[in-house]
Parts: sequence; C-alpha cells; structure tokens
Amino acid sequence: MSRVMVLAGDGVGPEVTTQAVRVLEAVARRFDVPLSLHERLVGGASIEQSGVAVSDETMRLCSDSDAVLFGAVGGLAGAGDGGPRPEEALFRLRTELGLFANIRPVRTLEALLGSSPLREERVREVDLLIVRELSAGLYYGFHENVPGKPSEIRAHGDELVAIDTLRYTEGEIARVADVAFRLAEQRRHRVTSVDKANVLSSSILWRRVVDEIATDFPAVGCEHLLVDACAMALLARASSFDVIVTENLFGDILTDEASMLVGSLGMLPSASVGTRRTPGGLFGLYEPVHGSAPDIAGRDMANPCGAILSAAMLLRHSLGRDDAANAVEKAVTEVFDAGYRTADLGGGSESVGTDRMGELVEERILAC
Ligand code: IPM
Ligand code: MG
Repeated sequence: MSRVMVLAGDGVGPEVTTQAVRVLEAVARRFDVPLSLHERLVGGASIEQSGVAVSDETMRLCSDSDAVLFGAVGGLAGAGDGGPRPEEALFRLRTELGLFANIRPVRTLEALLGSSPLREERVREVDLLIVRELSAGLYYGFHENVPGKPSEIRAHGDELVAIDTLRYTEGEIARVADVAFRLAEQRRHRVTSVDKANVLSSSILWRRVVDEIATDFPAVGCEHLLVDACAMALLARASSFDVIVTENLFGDILTDEASMLVGSLGMLPSASVGTRRTPGGLFGLYEPVHGSAPDIAGRDMANPCGAILSAAMLLRHSLGRDDAANAVEKAVTEVFDAGYRTADLGGGSESVGTDRMGELVEERILAC
C-alpha cells in the first residue's frame, strides 16, 4: 500500500487538488494501484490554525510517506507583516525532505497549439524538460543561522541596503546535473545547461561541474547557454531543446516563460525529487507549477490540469506505475481533443470550470 500525503494549501490549491485526488482515486481503482491518501493543512491555512506554515507532525508524516501531492501556498495570511509566511511551508518541505531536483515537463498538445500566444509553427512538437535546482541559490540566502550567507535589508549610512546571496557548492551542482543527464539518457540524449557564466562566480563553477558530470554520460550531448540567450531561444526554437538544467531562480523564471508555449501556466505539472527511494521509484513532492491565484480562488475557474498531470508524475516517479500515469495523460489529451477548455485557455464554445474538467478526465479514465 502506497501512502500519499495530500497538502492542498491555499487559494486555488484545494480546488485543483480535489480534482487531482478524484483522478488519482479513479485511476487507482481502474489500474489496481493500492493507495492510502492522508490530508494535512499547509501554508496560510496552517498558519491560521496553528501559527506555522507547516507543522513538525506534517513534516514527519511526509517523510514517512511514498509521495506528497501538493496544491499551492501563499497570497493569504502572514504576507508582509513580519510573521510566518505561507511560502515557508514549501521551502521547509523542499530542504528537509531533500528535494533538490525539480522536474518540469513542457509538452505542447496538438489541440492547444492555438492557445499559445506564439505562432503555431513555433510551438509545434515542443517536448522539453526543465530540471530546476531547488534547494540552494538565492532562495536560501535568508538562513540567518548560516554565517557568511546573508539575506536581509540593513542600514547603510543614511539609506537602506538589501543583500541576497547566490551560493552553490560543487556537490549541490553535481547532484542536480546527474539527475538531468539520467533523464536525458531516457529521452533524446541532449542536455542544455543554463547559467550566467560571463558574470557570476556561481555560474562559472556550475559550468565546470556540469562538464565533469557530462563525462559520466558519453551518450548524452551537453551544451551551455547563457540564461538571457535561453530566454530568447525558448521563444524562437523551443522544439530544439530536450533537457534543460539550471539553478533555482533561473529555473523559476524560465518555467513560467515556457508555460506560454503550452498555452497556460495552469497546464504545467512538476515533480521534486531527491535520492530517497520508495518501493516503486523515488520519494517525491508533486505540485502544479502555478501558484495559489487568490484572485480566482473559490470560483471554479482554475485549470486543474497542472495538478492532475502532477498526480500522473507521482504515479510514474514514486509509485513506478507508468500504465496508470500514461492513462491519466491520455485522458487529459482526449478532453482537450474533444474541445473542452478552462477559462485560462480562452474558454471557448466548450468552456468548463475546475470541477467539470476533473470530471471529464475521470470519465475517460473509467471508460478506458
Ligand atoms: C514555484 C513558485 C515558488 C518558487 C514560490 C511560490 C515561492 O513560484 O514553485 O515556481 O519561486 O519556487
Ligand atoms: Mg515559480
């Protein structure tokens, strides 16, 4: 029996996670996947209840599980008042669970080519994977208990100065590069490492370490691209990429950009993994790339496909169930082929809400 923790979080998190759970339960019945699901509060919802973004008990339950299905956090309690912030839940889960590699697939669907703001010929046959380093870099400059690694706003003469620190160790670069090369081995054998080595020391080291790891994978080609050039290339020639590996903040920015190739940020799933093994694969945390979108929360408007496709990644990477994962992805494709669209994709004649979208995917899984 696989144990899956369900952390729906804030904003649209609970709505999209409800649909992902519905699909997970349907596919588990249909493909005989023994699952037990356990829900806990995180983010603003947890701060309101217990004063912390994620409790020690929830952390313990997550470490004892095979996978975590995560919704979204942020935009609610604690923002900007110096108290606990909902996002701390994500940072704690990512670091304490050892989830250093964030895998974000970007694959365009034939039925959605017209939904991208780019011309169809630019987004046709895009099938790339962004591997974002997730546990170091600028995001972790605020650990005040780590000397020499400041992130703060402090007085400097008669004005304020703000400091963040972009720090990477060789080991942190090597382990995420290794993940990227392994994934490329199972795909089209091409890794593009993205950095800013013409300016940043962290990037010079990044490039050197990636080149060393590349020698372990002679069958995989490796190229380096500066992050500004990569941002441009994603619009000009996205179909030429296979696996892109990059540091935390570059990966955060490039994945939102890449979502526009597919048509909407609401479509993108993600898997965050480390090295802990489960009986079926690797322990991981699965979440849609979009955030909590408080402006549309509770209105049955959010696209649940990022969350549903994250559940598919959970089945594949943590439970080793490619059969069930493929069925979920096929069902989503079929729903779009049939003309259904959520509001973020332009709605259109077959405009549907969050709940109906989940139901349509569920119906196709049960019928397959
Ligand atoms: C993401 C999000 C988060 C991040 C935010 C909510 C802190 O944008 O997962 O891409 O920047 O990592
Ligand atoms: Mg982001």
